[in-house]
Amino acid sequence: TTVSDGINGTNTKPSHYPYSMPFNRTSFPAGFIFGAGSAAYQSEGAALEDGRGPSIWDTFVREHPEKIFDRSTGDIASGFYHHYKEDIKLMKKVGLDSFRFSISWTRILPNIKPFVTLLHFDPPQALEEEYGGFLSPKIVLILVVTTGRGACRKDFVDYGDFCFKTYGDRVKLWASMNEPNGMVMNGYNGGSFAPGRCSNYVGNCTAGDSATEPYIAAHNMLLSHGALVNLYKHKYQPYQMGKIGITILTHWFEPKFKTAASRQAASRARDFFFGWFADPVTFGNYPESMRRIVGKRLPKFTEDAAPPPNAFQLSYTADRQVNLTTERDGVPVGSPTALGWLFVHPKGLQELLLYLKKKYNNPTIYITENGLADDASLPLKVALKDSMRIRYLHSHLQYLLKAIKEGVNVKAYYIWTFWDDFEWDAGYTVRFGITYVDFKNNLTRYLKYSAYWFKMFLLN
Ligand code: NOJ
Repeated sequence: TTVSDGINGTNTKPSHYPYSMPFNRTSFPAGFIFGAGSAAYQSEGAALEDGRGPSIWDTFVREHPEKIFDRSTGDIASGFYHHYKEDIKLMKKVGLDSFRFSISWTRILPNIKPFVTLLHFDPPQALEEEYGGFLSPKIVLILVVTTGRGACRKDFVDYGDFCFKTYGDRVKLWASMNEPNGMVMNGYNGGSFAPGRCSNYVGNCTAGDSATEPYIAAHNMLLSHGALVNLYKHKYQPYQMGKIGITILTHWFEPKFKTAASRQAASRARDFFFGWFADPVTFGNYPESMRRIVGKRLPKFTEDAAPPPNAFQLSYTADRQVNLTTERDGVPVGSPTALGWLFVHPKGLQELLLYLKKKYNNPTIYITENGLADDASLPLKVALKDSMRIRYLHSHLQYLLKAIKEGVNVKAYYIWTFWDDFEWDAGYTVRFGITYVDFKNNLTRYLKYSAYWFKMFLLN
């Protein structure tokens, strides 16, 4: 066959080229990759879409149009962003092995600060099987003796170490773990969350001991958190300058009656529900009421193994009254929300924050979650209207602002959640999102009015 040599544009055979020998991919070593290349700014287009932030090229083409021959921009480019499906089909048709492309950094992290949780209820099954996960102190430290040499593994801390090292230049907000109190209450007491342990008298469990395991798992979580914070403080924070904390699940508990006994009950409920973690990360020990009531079943901190004091984060969803009742002042919604959360009490957020300020030496607080569930079977139209959620967010933000004006040191507020998702034990039966996900229809997304409301709130 005759092939253009690409030099003089002819199909003539230069004498020094052995064109007659078969020359195709089989001439190359097995496994050799043949592809075609591209770069994001040159091909994607959609430069202003979906929250992409500007790169230096977006600015450059606007500020210096004269530097571009035809004064064009990459705003539309090859349109790969929208045409990627047909483009990939074409690539397959051509028979490429591979496609080289670049990731648009500002599409991934436009102006958004990443806030990264290292553990949100999902530790590795392998560690569960190896030593019982958080039930074992091995999660904090294991000495591994290999032939002649001793080494140690600190599984949770090693994982955190990897993440700080790899992403710490970009991630400045870290949570060691999300709601460990929720995780132990559901995972080791009620058994409704993984790993699903509890005593038979509590739930339908085949293994576990609800009287002891929640306290043991919580203790190992606190020690793991403490070790991780120490690592971050000494090894990374001095140059990465980020922040780290622990996310604690909170509700606000109020006495039902104006009696001393009722006040004490509310105070115990706060201690057992969130003081369990908030006290150790502030004062290095469990609340006095827990030590007294739980007695020997509550593990002890030693001087060299207690979590160091640091900022903490919290999620606030609904509030509780001690001795539950179905009536409540200040409920802004006509009915209980899905998941059986009876009391939505936005003012409780302000009260909680003031309480935390006083009790825990004015800590820095990030509100990592605030949101509510509605029934997943609502028709799309109703779900999109989303008036309950708008009222919910609006009123919580109002009380948050009041707390801030009263001097509570709150640094952030995150709606839970951006999209409808898998709600743990509730599966897909409830929706928490400000974005509706049509799970039955290609995961199509629709912004709910709450998202538009928030957009207006953010002046975007
Ligand atoms: C707390 C948890 O962090 C999150 O995973 C959960 O979906 C929400 N609250 C709602 O229950």
